[in-house]
Amino acid sequence: MGRLIVVSNRVAPTQEGRPAAGGLAVGVLDALKETGGVWFGWSGETVAEPSAPVIEQQGSVTYATVSLTRRDYDQYYKGFSNTTLWPTFHYRNDLARYERQEYGGYLRVNVSLARQLQPLIEPDDIIWVHDYHLIPFARCLRDLGVKNPIGFFLHIPLPVPEVLRSVPPHEELIKFMCHYDVVGFQTGADRQAFLDYIERGGHGTVSDDGMVHAWDRFLKVGAYPIGIYPDAIARASAQFSDRKAVRSLREAMRGRKLIMSVDRLDYSKGLAERFQAFERMLQNGPGWHGRVSLLQIAPPTRSDVQTYQTIRRNLEGEAGRINGRFAQLDWTPIQYLNRKYERNLLMALFREAQVGYVAPLRDGMNLVAKEYVASQNPEDPGVLVLSQFAGAAEQLPGALVVNPYDLNQTAEALERALSMPHAERVSRYNDMMASLRENNLSVWRDTFLADLRSVATAASVTAKARTAAPAGAASAPSPATSASAPEPAPRAARAQ
Ligand code: G6P
Repeated sequence: MGRLIVVSNRVAPTQEGRPAAGGLAVGVLDALKETGGVWFGWSGETVAEPSAPVIEQQGSVTYATVSLTRRDYDQYYKGFSNTTLWPTFHYRNDLARYERQEYGGYLRVNVSLARQLQPLIEPDDIIWVHDYHLIPFARCLRDLGVKNPIGFFLHIPLPVPEVLRSVPPHEELIKFMCHYDVVGFQTGADRQAFLDYIERGGHGTVSDDGMVHAWDRFLKVGAYPIGIYPDAIARASAQFSDRKAVRSLREAMRGRKLIMSVDRLDYSKGLAERFQAFERMLQNGPGWHGRVSLLQIAPPTRSDVQTYQTIRRNLEGEAGRINGRFAQLDWTPIQYLNRKYERNLLMALFREAQVGYVAPLRDGMNLVAKEYVASQNPEDPGVLVLSQFAGAAEQLPGALVVNPYDLNQTAEALERALSMPHAERVSRYNDMMASLRENNLSVWRDTFLADLRSVATAASVTAKARTAAPAGAASAPSPATSASAPEPAPRAARAQ
């Protein structure tokens, strides 16, 4: 069996113990360590002149990283990926901006990354591309003659067609997705949004087994919710619970209850609403004053994008306002920390918290919700308060699910979580751990890759049959055409 090549914009920190940059990096690294393989992507550096990939072997994983020029970074990463796609895919069209030049940069960088990866690909490898930065990547590889199976997984939500259509090149993006052999989403709702775009837009058909036929391409489209390794997290949280930082937190709480949240400082995470719902709880329940604190850890992210600077300022204002309103000499209601922590330490901190508070306004999955549950002490577990708009809500039956826009409902859920009887907490925890074990990270990876292998095998059988058939009996699909891309030449015919 060939190697697994993972491609993503962000490649995880290669040193163990360093804080991770987000759900994708955590999930992909854990999934790749088990199978071994190559991880190709951006080094996180910008340079004056691009150079060949830097190859670094660490255990079973070979990291191949490339740097971006400032112009590439501005147009591809900061521009189209994070100022057009990210807000729109999180239903924040109000924050999105589209610039044709930035889209040009996005396409150019995809072509250039594909060119840098191509010499590293061996005939038996399978290629798994991740996230919204790299939607055109399969098309770029095919244009270079790469015939290996290529799958795509979107870690963030796919919005419904009405919202997606606000991105001017929406049709081209969906066509690009159709160049993969398998396209995977976090939830059934995301998958349905894709199918609706194809079917209602009259672009193709969907068969009962999830095969899509559109623009002369055949691909499998599925929901593959990303998981974690719950038992490994449980062990880490117990082991790290004697760390100095954890002991300090325990002492500082002095018997008070703790509600805890960890998120990148992103507007999709609903941090202001979260603070305000906690404020509402304090306002409605003076009995809680001095008895509970909210610890919000929010490391800054994408801080050179304007909207991220604005949210940071707003949140500092909100935390200060609420603390000013309720704090006492020996009690600060909200502890708001803009820094990263090592992952194992975070798991141990979660174990100290009676409530895990995960209330994004929109989120592909949200692995923090899953990690909070797995970190709990099985004898005395805490309660998860979870937004209905996180993909994880489809999978965590024991959470108290809230609408983060409804401050009263969220405040009531926080109170209910803080006061929940022991037996109910244990029963909810057991339900959620069972679901996490059943859908762990290996299941995510193995199901996706099994589908990719079987679709690719079926395609190659069909291709051989077509080659053997008399001329005119079957026509090889022609690639989708692109209106505004630095459109690489159509690739050699390859049946899907
Ligand atoms: C989310 C995205 C990832 C991204 C991560 C961190 O989890 O789905 O693709 O890597 O955020 O964001 P950054 O822009 O720092 O890579």
